[in-house]
Amino acid sequence: MKKLLITGGAGFIGANFVHYWMKHYPQDKIVVIDALTYAGNFANLEPVKNNDNFTFIHGDICDQSLVESLLNEHDIDTLVHFAAESHVDRSITGPDAFIETNIIGTYSLLKAAKKIWLDDALAKDKQPKEHRFHHVSTDEVYGTLSATDPAFTEETAYAPNSPYSASKAASDHLVRAYHHTYGLKVTTSNCSNNYGPYHFPEKLIPLVITNILHDKALPIYGDGQQIRDWLYVEDHAYGIDLVLNKGSVGENYNIGGNNEWANIDIVKTISLLVEQEFKNNNELTKRFPKAVSAINQNTASLITYVQDRPGHDRRYAIDATKTNNDLGYEPKESFSTGIAKTVQWYLNNESWWQSVMDGSYQDWIKEQYCSK
Ligand code: NAD
Ligand code: TYD
Repeated sequence: MKKLLITGGAGFIGANFVHYWMKHYPQDKIVVIDALTYAGNFANLEPVKNNDNFTFIHGDICDQSLVESLLNEHDIDTLVHFAAESHVDRSITGPDAFIETNIIGTYSLLKAAKKIWLDDALAKDKQPKEHRFHHVSTDEVYGTLSATDPAFTEETAYAPNSPYSASKAASDHLVRAYHHTYGLKVTTSNCSNNYGPYHFPEKLIPLVITNILHDKALPIYGDGQQIRDWLYVEDHAYGIDLVLNKGSVGENYNIGGNNEWANIDIVKTISLLVEQEFKNNNELTKRFPKAVSAINQNTASLITYVQDRPGHDRRYAIDATKTNNDLGYEPKESFSTGIAKTVQWYLNNESWWQSVMDGSYQDWIKEQYCSK
């Protein structure tokens, strides 16, 4: 039985990981620490909040003494680190929070883990506790590819281009150093773009779905030919599960979907899927009367080319051969089933994205949980 501390568990991937883990390992204990920034939402954890094996702590990963006390009090043996500032556009307009959470926050977690798992045991002449520090990172640390370059492997040199990817690269290096210098048992995974339920609607895929439902423009940066390698979020959770259970300490593992799409094609695909849903289900017209283009089956008219993102990486692609060969990893969801499920999820969970977008659920939950 594992006792996990999950940082950033109220965010998109962290929450999906919590759901995945509680489904597959119901006997394990999970503690989530999350600062509930704009991207964190306790609503993402609604389905598990009353489970006896689940504890939520409203806190900041930069608070080293809080993290130390959680590692001690809950006898944590596995830390899975998702907490981060994650949106590239925000990192361009305001990098400070990225440096603070992604670099200083990771450093603070490493110091806490080293103290509780290594130093305190050694001070008592005990063997260090069996432990794992798993760091969740991104393919963006490898920089950008041309159309013909081979995909990123774990050996590709780091070449981050945005303040977001630079801050993630810095955190990856710190994690590596804590293994090589102090013997902390770490693993790191570098994953491609995720999509699925609970994805904050500022990111491309949920933005397109919710904008269609509001009949708002679908902004395409630059020429829309930038390529991303999309993975269904549950397959990311599955990959981390394999790294935790079968991965070798000190190793990095790439996780990807082998599923490259140009942005404009993703947007057109989603638009057609939403149109299809409206065509097949008259209820949707009543529920989303503002979605005039979807009702009239001409969502393509919403596509609007806008100014490109500064320093926009052209292409990301993951070569996950090592993870496939060493851990037996294969994504379970195809893109056609995953994207259809995702569109359905957004159509069925209007109250979730409305409250995320206007912040109302978060205000309520902060009153309930965070004033204590
Ligand atoms: P997200 O922005 O949806 O969630 C981040 C979570 O971290 C939020 O719940 C937020 O409240 C919390 N958080 C932020 N600062 C914190 C702090 N100082 N202390 C405690 N909690 C804090 O991000 P996501 O998309 O779920 O990404 C999770 C991780 O996966 C990140 O490390 C990201 O770099 C990585 N990643 C994301 C993708 C992707 O496509 N979204 C792909 C590869 C890797
Ligand atoms: P995003 O979801 O922000 O993920 P990332 O930048 O981490 O890859 O964006 C995915 C791609 O979509 C990226 O190339 C930028 C592009 N994009 C748009 O063209 N329009 C948008 O409104 C957004 C949010 C992103």
